[in-house]
Amino acid sequence: MMNRKHYIYILSCTLLVVLFSCKHGEGEYHSLHDKIEGESKNYHGTSLSSETYIDDIKTIEVTEGGHTFLIPERKSQIKSFACIECHTKPVGELKSKDAKKAHWDINLAHADGNTMNCATCHNGNDMNNLNTLTGNTVDFNSSYKLCSQCHSTQFEDWKGGAHGKRIGGWAPPRASFTCVNCHNPHSPSFETRWPSRFNTEQIDEAHEGLEH
Ligand code: HEC
Ligand code: HEC
Ligand code: HEC
Ligand code: HEC
Repeated sequence: MMNRKHYIYILSCTLLVVLFSCKHGEGEYHSLHDKIEGESKNYHGTSLSSETYIDDIKTIEVTEGGHTFLIPERKSQIKSFACIECHTKPVGELKSKDAKKAHWDINLAHADGNTMNCATCHNGNDMNNLNTLTGNTVDFNSSYKLCSQCHSTQFEDWKGGAHGKRIGGWAPPRASFTCVNCHNPHSPSFETRWPSRFNTEQIDEAHEGLEH
């Protein structure tokens, strides 16, 4: 037989249990950590894709330092490719007697003449390919490998996606612009320009200067 005392005791125990135990209804968790664990069980990445934005660009896949991503293909974009259509003999023999330059539109403004000339990147014996400082062949599609020789900071950042820009969006597959999409290898720096926002602070300073 259950007396009143027992009854109250059991009731309060049940109440305590109800109060202090966690409810495990749908979408309810012990902690934020449990929630993340629980919710990610059936999660297999995003269903979003950047593919539609990349579709009309010819790309190649590269793997650099554990990152695999796409970059735009270059050779079909270079008007004077294939170089060997003209470069069948050494450059010296190609030079015309009336001193007309074939590549008159190319002015090298990259580092200085002691550091760099055409042969730093172009191999006169194999003009269809680029070459490294140690004489290794680099495909025009992988020209970032040339840049990385001297600009390791930007190269490291670019691999991870911190320098440069993505094509499409943040959804996979990752496609990134390559160095020469933004920098002309012959004249790589950008012109300095005024900020497009009108600088009111500067005006204020000038104004104050006049008052005093
Ligand atoms: C229509 C013909 C033609 C094509 C195509 C061509 N070149 Fe040339 N290139 C020449 C001639 C001619 C010279 C000889 C020097 C001059 O006239 O400037 C030359 C010279 C050069 C030089 C040496 C410049 C110097 O001042 O020492 C380089 C480097 C060069 N070409 C790279 C290339 C590369 C890279 C390609 C392909 C992406 C290419 N050329 C495609 C005609 C051509
Ligand atoms: C820092 C490396 C570098 C140097 C130095 C360099 N080039 Fe290039 N050049 C490149 C790369 C990379 C490309 C391909 C760019 C692209 O993908 O659009 C290229 C493309 C070209 C092309 C084909 C594109 C065009 O504009 O017709 C020619 C021709 C060329 N270079 C000639 C020269 C000549 C001549 C010199 C010396 C005056 C020179 N390059 C110096 C890296 C270099
Ligand atoms: C042989 C070494 C070498 C190679 C290869 C090379 N660069 Fe450079 N680059 C330099 C030097 C040196 C400077 C001048 C640095 C300075 O002025 O602080 C420079 C300057 C630059 C600048 C301008 C920096 C500024 O302050 O405005 C850019 C952008 C650049 N390079 C991009 C490239 C790209 C893209 C490639 C590959 C196509 C490349 N470089 C290949 C040595 C190199
Ligand atoms: C999407 C365009 C883009 C791509 C791709 C890109 N850069 Fe740049 N890069 C820039 C811009 C914009 C600046 C100027 C930043 C500034 O002035 O603060 C810059 C600056 C630089 C500088 C000058 C140093 C500095 O920080 O001001 C170097 C060197 C350089 N880039 C090298 C590279 C190399 C090497 C690659 C490829 C591995 C590359 N960039 C790819 C846009 C790009």
